[in-house]
Amino acid sequence: MEAEKVLIFDTTLRDGEQAAGAAMTVNEKIEIAEQLEKLKVDIIEAGFAASSPGDFQAVSAIAAQIRGSSVASLARANPDDVDRAAEAVRGAESPRIHVFLSTSDIHLMHGLRRNREEVMDMAVEMVRRAKGYVDDVEFSPMDATRTNPEYLYTMLEATIAAGATTVNIPDTVGYSIPEEFAGLIRNIFENVPNIHKARVSVHCHNDLGLAVANSLAAVAVGARQVEGCINGLGERAGNASLEEVVMGIRTRGDILGVSTGVDTKHLYNSSRLVSDITGFAVQPNKAIVGVNAFRHASGIHQDAVIKERTTFEIMDATEVGWQSNAIVLGKLSGRAGLRSRLEELGYNLQKEELDNAFKAFKELADKKREVTDRDLEALMAEERRTVADSGTFRLDHVQVSSGDTSMPTATVQLVGPDEEIFRDAATGAGPVDAVCNAINRIVQKPCRLVEYSVKSITEGLDAVGDVSIRVESNEKTYVGRGASTDIIVASARAYMNALNRIMAIENNQSTDNT
Ligand code: KIV
Ligand code: ZN
Repeated sequence: MEAEKVLIFDTTLRDGEQAAGAAMTVNEKIEIAEQLEKLKVDIIEAGFAASSPGDFQAVSAIAAQIRGSSVASLARANPDDVDRAAEAVRGAESPRIHVFLSTSDIHLMHGLRRNREEVMDMAVEMVRRAKGYVDDVEFSPMDATRTNPEYLYTMLEATIAAGATTVNIPDTVGYSIPEEFAGLIRNIFENVPNIHKARVSVHCHNDLGLAVANSLAAVAVGARQVEGCINGLGERAGNASLEEVVMGIRTRGDILGVSTGVDTKHLYNSSRLVSDITGFAVQPNKAIVGVNAFRHASGIHQDAVIKERTTFEIMDATEVGWQSNAIVLGKLSGRAGLRSRLEELGYNLQKEELDNAFKAFKELADKKREVTDRDLEALMAEERRTVADSGTFRLDHVQVSSGDTSMPTATVQLVGPDEEIFRDAATGAGPVDAVCNAINRIVQKPCRLVEYSVKSITEGLDAVGDVSIRVESNEKTYVGRGASTDIIVASARAYMNALNRIMAIENNQSTDNT
């Protein structure tokens, strides 16, 4: 008998984007949505249409393009939001409207300033309104885990009666622990008379590091939709990590007795893409997609894994899309070799993209004896950023002089949006500061550097350095990434990437409304 299916609802483009510094442009969201479609998630929450023109545009474009996954827009429980969400998902093959409203007393008192009856009426009315547009309506009582249980049951019963086909139970503040959360889901099944008419979903935040554990505990007692984000992105400490939920269900199907429709071999590439686009690096020891997730350092473990993989591995790395690192390219490798390796890594390039990648590869191979898969990923991430940043400022040339007795001085040359050349120089406390100051003199986009880190992609002194920075502009955080064998060049690229993101996202006029 086929195992019952748990639907996977991806909210990387909505809740994930709410992570401080993770704002994305419309084109970047479309690129992620295409990857999620390949991954075969059941529902893509493409954004929050009423929150900004950029979000509306992203949801509409994704709805028009994606086939195979449902496309949802979030909406507050007010008529304008619901109407806007409906308009944005109109072109979808399977459109969904996701209405949410706070239900805990603490939110009612301090946020909504309404009483329970008023909130109940708003929820019912807006679910009905959404149902007038689409068949597939999800309702989320926000802060459900801190909501009075009797009120929660009545709210769920009323919204299901009004047409909700999915009721989502958010642990909005990540407060629950697994046994307690499973108890709540069990009680919902027992106390909401019409619960069999809707699918029960869960949406767990990770403030106590329990989002995945809570989600799986809920699945064990009957939840049949789980919401999450790639790489566990999301508001504050993030949401349940989608790849961990999916592999938890797959690996422990023996206990959970359910399955998902996700094509797990696309998990690694999905993680890499989201990390490249948002600039949020994946920690090395991150389950499923971290670089150490399938690495064995101890000799005893290595020996055992060589004899029998399952001695120390509960999953096969290839199941989640990891490629073996056996093939290493070098300066004698040709274009066909590069293309074939890139294809194996999930990059299918058009001719011009391959030309550019090959040029960058040759430059790298001149500086570095061996070009590994991780180097190629860094190179492709840099290529992506170059394309994404085109139309704004691009770094053409950077030169720095510094030392223990001289004053760090940088000269930069940038190409502007209309291909005009700008050149300037500045000094600074250190070489990176000097580069940023020189760039600032040209771009004139005031921001404050709040975090800077550099890590090497592979071992060795010739390794590619991957620089991540965070900057603040108008009280918002933006991330920038850059890679090069020269860390000053990588820093300059990361800074340019952050400035270009500020300009692109400010043009989208995003607002935070959840
Ligand atoms: O965390 C939350 O409660 C949410 C809702 C909008 C579902 O993101
Ligand atoms: Zn959330």
